[in-house]
Amino acid sequence: MKKIAILTSGGDAPGMNAHIRSVVRRANYNNLTVFGVMNGYEGLIDGEFIEMKNASVANVIQRGGTILKTARSKRFLEEKYRKQAYNNLVEWGIDGLIVCGGDGSFTGAQVFENETGIKVIGTPGTIDNDLYGTDFTIGFDTAINTVVEAIDKIRDTADAHGRIFFIEVMGRSAGYIAMHSGIGSGAEAIFVPEKEGDYENFVSKFEQSGRSDKLFSIIVVAEGDESGGAIKVAEQFKQKFSDISVRVSILGHIQRGGNPSCRDRVLASRLGAGAVEALINGKSNGMIGEKNNEIVFVPFTEALGKKRSLKKMPC
Ligand code: F6P
Repeated sequence: MKKIAILTSGGDAPGMNAHIRSVVRRANYNNLTVFGVMNGYEGLIDGEFIEMKNASVANVIQRGGTILKTARSKRFLEEKYRKQAYNNLVEWGIDGLIVCGGDGSFTGAQVFENETGIKVIGTPGTIDNDLYGTDFTIGFDTAINTVVEAIDKIRDTADAHGRIFFIEVMGRSAGYIAMHSGIGSGAEAIFVPEKEGDYENFVSKFEQSGRSDKLFSIIVVAEGDESGGAIKVAEQFKQKFSDISVRVSILGHIQRGGNPSCRDRVLASRLGAGAVEALINGKSNGMIGEKNNEIVFVPFTEALGKKRSLKKMPC
């Protein structure tokens, strides 16, 4: 292997720049030529490659977002565009590709390697922490700290007014952000997509508890919860308890931005070095993750074939 490329795909996650930096520096250290692919799979299709030297990734370790930009590519779902992407890689002499993203990006990576034979390694970059085979994904730690900081602020005003706040956090199909930030911010209840009946349980406990002994409450709702999100939950709640002052706060994309935490920077750096080493050692068609503090290789068949359970989260 002489030339490799890296791209970031799907939703950006804080720590992706630290990851790109690590890949570039490790690759250069091992005398590989490394290219950054702009705009995720879109740039792979359009041949948007930039050679990256150590200096290309100076002063990025602390920055959120991704210097390579990202995209959710619809075109990459079509074989004719994957073929175009393959032709670009062949033309540039690139034999290995690192794809930092979530499960959708890994599905594309797996299909791409199976079809074309280009060696692909996935690295877990998503704030959702919902990938099987790694304890943590790049961006999750920063995101939950952002959420906890926001909830601490909301708590002040909730307390001042004696209100119930329903706070919506990201996670279309995974409750990791909700669960960790909810525990970390002392939420009264946490609604997650993985479990049914969260709203009903909360209401029945709320009724039993005698509402007057608590002056305010924080309820964290994952966007993908069956209840339909914080606005719907709050409307339902207000219909039943019309005398209680209720407010909704949707934290939204603030959760994806900001400087990565130290933990995310370290994880991103370790996974970057691990991904380059994996390609050098002939590994591909799988993800480099971190399990029990060890850097591990998990084939895509396993990483994508198994569903990660919220109960098994390491907390
Ligand atoms: O990247 C994961 C994620 O942040 C999810 O938690 C969220 O549902 C989704 O991306 C939002 O994506 P977009 O920014 O494309 O609307």
